[in-house]
Amino acid sequence: MSNLVSSFFLLLLCFVGNSLSCFACTEGERQALLRFKLSLIYPALLSSWVGKDCCKWKGVLCNGTTTNAHVVKLDLRNTNLSSVDIWGKMSAMGGLEAHELNSSLVELKYLNYLDLSWNSFQYSPIPGFLGSMKRLRYLNLSHSDFAGVVPHHLGNLSSLRVLDLSSYGGLIVDDFAWVGGLSSLQQLDMSTAKISDSQSNEDRAYFANSTLPRVQFLHLGRNSFEGKLPYFLANMTSLSTLDLSYNYFSSSIPLFVGNLKSLAYLNLGGNQFDHVEGGLSMILLNQCRMKSLSLGSSSFGGQLIGADGNMSGCSTYDLEALDLGMSGFGGPLPGWLGKFSSLTYLDLDDNQFTGSIRTSIGRLTALRELDLSYNQFTGSIPTSVERLTALERLDLSHNQLTGAIPASIGRMAALRYLDLGFNQLNGTIPISIGQLSKLERLHLYSNSLEGLVSEAHLANLTMLKWIYLDSNFGITFKTRSHWVPPFQLTILALSSCIVGSFPQWLRTQKEIDFLSLSNSSISGALPEWLPNMNYSEVHLSNNNISGLFQNFPSSIHHLDLSRNSISGPLPDDIGDVMPSLVNFLFADNLLNGPMPTSLCKMKRLVIIDLSRNRLSGNVPDCWMNFTTLKGILLSSNRFSWIIPRSLAHVSSLTWLQLSNNTLRGELPFALGNCTNLKFLDLGDNRLSENVPNWIGENLKSLQVLRLRKNNFTGGIPPELCRLQSLSIIDLGGNNLTGTIPACLSNLTGMFIENTRRRGSSFRIFPTITQQMMAAINGSEIEYTSTLGLLVIMDLSSNKLEGEIPEELTRLSGLLGLNLSHNHLTGSIPDNVGGLKSLMSLDLSSNHLSGKIPLSMGALTFISHLNLSYNNLSGPIPSGSQLQTLNDPHIYAGNSELCGAPLQECPSDEPSQPPATTR
Ligand SMILES: *[C@@H]1O[C@H](CO)[C@@H](O)[C@H](O)[C@H]1NC(C)=O
Ligand SMILES: *[C@@H]1O[C@H](CO)[C@@H](O)[C@H](O)[C@H]1NC(C)=O
Ligand SMILES: *[C@@H]1O[C@H](CO)[C@@H](O)[C@H](O)[C@H]1NC(C)=O
Ligand SMILES: *[C@@H]1O[C@H](CO)[C@@H](O)[C@H](O)[C@H]1NC(C)=O
Ligand SMILES: *[C@@H]1O[C@H](CO)[C@@H](O)[C@H](O)[C@H]1NC(C)=O
Ligand SMILES: *[C@@H]1O[C@H](CO)[C@@H](O)[C@H](O)[C@H]1NC(C)=O
Ligand SMILES: *[C@@H]1O[C@H](CO)[C@@H](O)[C@H](O)[C@H]1NC(C)=O
Repeated sequence: MSNLVSSFFLLLLCFVGNSLSCFACTEGERQALLRFKLSLIYPALLSSWVGKDCCKWKGVLCNGTTTNAHVVKLDLRNTNLSSVDIWGKMSAMGGLEAHELNSSLVELKYLNYLDLSWNSFQYSPIPGFLGSMKRLRYLNLSHSDFAGVVPHHLGNLSSLRVLDLSSYGGLIVDDFAWVGGLSSLQQLDMSTAKISDSQSNEDRAYFANSTLPRVQFLHLGRNSFEGKLPYFLANMTSLSTLDLSYNYFSSSIPLFVGNLKSLAYLNLGGNQFDHVEGGLSMILLNQCRMKSLSLGSSSFGGQLIGADGNMSGCSTYDLEALDLGMSGFGGPLPGWLGKFSSLTYLDLDDNQFTGSIRTSIGRLTALRELDLSYNQFTGSIPTSVERLTALERLDLSHNQLTGAIPASIGRMAALRYLDLGFNQLNGTIPISIGQLSKLERLHLYSNSLEGLVSEAHLANLTMLKWIYLDSNFGITFKTRSHWVPPFQLTILALSSCIVGSFPQWLRTQKEIDFLSLSNSSISGALPEWLPNMNYSEVHLSNNNISGLFQNFPSSIHHLDLSRNSISGPLPDDIGDVMPSLVNFLFADNLLNGPMPTSLCKMKRLVIIDLSRNRLSGNVPDCWMNFTTLKGILLSSNRFSWIIPRSLAHVSSLTWLQLSNNTLRGELPFALGNCTNLKFLDLGDNRLSENVPNWIGENLKSLQVLRLRKNNFTGGIPPELCRLQSLSIIDLGGNNLTGTIPACLSNLTGMFIENTRRRGSSFRIFPTITQQMMAAINGSEIEYTSTLGLLVIMDLSSNKLEGEIPEELTRLSGLLGLNLSHNHLTGSIPDNVGGLKSLMSLDLSSNHLSGKIPLSMGALTFISHLNLSYNNLSGPIPSGSQLQTLNDPHIYAGNSELCGAPLQECPSDEPSQPPATTR
């Protein structure tokens, strides 16, 4: 080793001191390097590789005398990296590219260091010739787009100290035994090289016996190892870094882990361990020199950490980073956490910790990041947080913290990111927040904070970029009208705070991307400057904004102005100006005029909701090129003419609501291509012809079918009986004839076991409130958030005849059944009590005869009943719930009925006994 070091220094001296005449490379090696260069797709990237002395080329290092030097090191690592995702995953730019690694390198017989990382060899295999380069001590092929089976020849590299084959996938290690040949190995990284499942334990043991005692760095993360943590690890006493994260190891973390005394970095996160033998304190107790421990994203359950106070193992601890996030730990925070005074990173997020956040947290004065979010912490935020003066990120969001934000928070001078959202904090926001001069992100959303937020809070926050104060109903946000803030925000979320009028200072915020001021008591017209900013999302729903509609900038994706009083026509060029719009939400305003055809240029639309305006004319027929559109909601306008045929091309469509317009003609056959439709509401129009068969044949996902109040004729097609997901069918108010198909009893979506399972999980679009008229207790009302709970069959006000099929009583999840105003005959099905969820039953104005079945008394939820104007006879059954319906009108027009609430039955026809025992 010392030999190596001294000659290395010699080399270095030579390079630094006299690089012009130091070495001249041998011609053979120069030719080999040139052949390598020419094998690249863009050889020009190695522009310094010209001239005689290859030892001066970039990335090339030689060793030897001036007359006889050899290439010993080739460092072509691509250093142009950037972090591309929140996991810190890196991506490389501008590296070398080749179809494969050129074999000319094998002629560099003296090479001991080869680094080709972060380049691209286009998913070619790692060549076997590398195994003959016996002098290699360092081989790094990581993230270089090699793929396929790693050649066993690499096992011949008995001098190799470092082998790095890590990647984001593509490499396969089909046999581990060859690794045993790497008898000098100290560092091994095969993260995400897929180690084949057929790997036997013997192979692993061999590997362990022959190489592991010397290995210091072992990275085998993101492979497919499973079962218990292998025992050979217990003998790896030199190990300082062990990363076995994101495998399928299960059972427990064994005791021996605590005995690997050299460990400084341990990552076992992302496995399926269910506990730590002896408790986590066992590892922490014994590992005085551990710097980083990660067990996050595991499936531990129950109490995290053994008893308090048992931490006498070390006088000091070196632990700097502790990640136990998303691990299923519960119970209170152990007091001894306060002993890890070197901790800079503590992540306990997304567990089930309870109790209060201990004051001793203030002892962790080295902390730079503290994440306790998504737990069940209660109590108040300890004032001792003021001692965390190095803390840059504090996340206590999504707990049940109460009380006020401590004023001492202003002393946390390094804070850049503060998230206290989604708690139950109350009181006012302390003015001392204004001392956090490094603050970039302020999240206090969804609490019960109140009082005034003013310039005083914000005047010194020059770095501020994000403000989330939304859903604090008691906060008033007010500044002087000519205030010029010291910051440039990208996010401002004040929805459900009291804002009152458009904040004028927004004009100074040129970088705002996300603006949310919904439900903020804003009145007045849209200021003319507002639409001129570079927003991508604007939420202004539920205010009292008036004035004319204006186009927003072309950057906008999400525009929500629902529930305001904006008037005027949509501009003709709306689709040219806002072609990137994804969600266009404008329900409940006063828009008039036609839908401009330029809307058809918004090819990225997912939802367009213009319901409840005063729009008129045709719905444009230009939907053929929309591939992402899921919702078209245009109900309660004044649209006339026919349903556009081109909708048939929108195969992504799940929600089509065109109700309460004056649309005419038949349902276009081609709509049967919209096989993803779940919600079809065309009620209150003038549609005619038959209810088409294809609804039942093609629209297999349909949950809601509402064709109410149109001019449909013909029979109810039995194909509808195939719609297994249907929970609302409303064909009332048409001119339908024929009988009620008995097969409607096959609508399994209306069986109680299925409605229970479905619960309210019906929302198709979480971002917007779905709204539909439905009648459950007699009169139609608007259903919104509870729409998903409705189970209704309404065939009323048609010309249906024949009997009510007995089979319908299988629909045990029905809440409302309305067959009134038809020409139905026969008697009420005997087993009507089988409709055991029924809240509303209307059979009025038919020609039903016979007695009211006894089982009617079993309808324990019934609160609305109408049997009037039939030919029913005999006594009215009793039943606990039935007896509360004592309005005689519900039985009117049946001259032969008797019993409460009508007149007593004649004595020769005694009252029936109650159907249910009380
Ligand atoms: C340079 O060459 C000398 C003599 O052959 C050898 O001992 C030494 O290890 C070499 N150095 C490097 C960095 O390869
Ligand atoms: C590994 O070592 C154990 C115990 O020293 C021995 O029994 C076993 O045979 C060895 N395995 C191999 C593959 O060499
Ligand atoms: C670990 O080392 C002990 C003694 O040094 C030896 O008996 C045992 O076989 C080794 N275990 C493995 C799996 O290599
Ligand atoms: C805050 O809530 C606590 C209960 O959690 C209550 O005792 C206190 O009075 C409230 N403070 C304010 C200012 O509303
Ligand atoms: C803002 O800075 C000024 C000048 O440094 C200081 O007087 C004032 O107290 C600071 N405001 C807050 C809220 O910290
Ligand atoms: C749809 O796309 C086709 C082909 O790109 C184009 O010719 C046609 O004009 C487009 N139709 C509409 C209505 O945009
Ligand atoms: C139908 O739309 C009109 C306006 O066009 C509105 O006044 C009425 O309330 C709507 N009816 C229903 C049932 O939504």
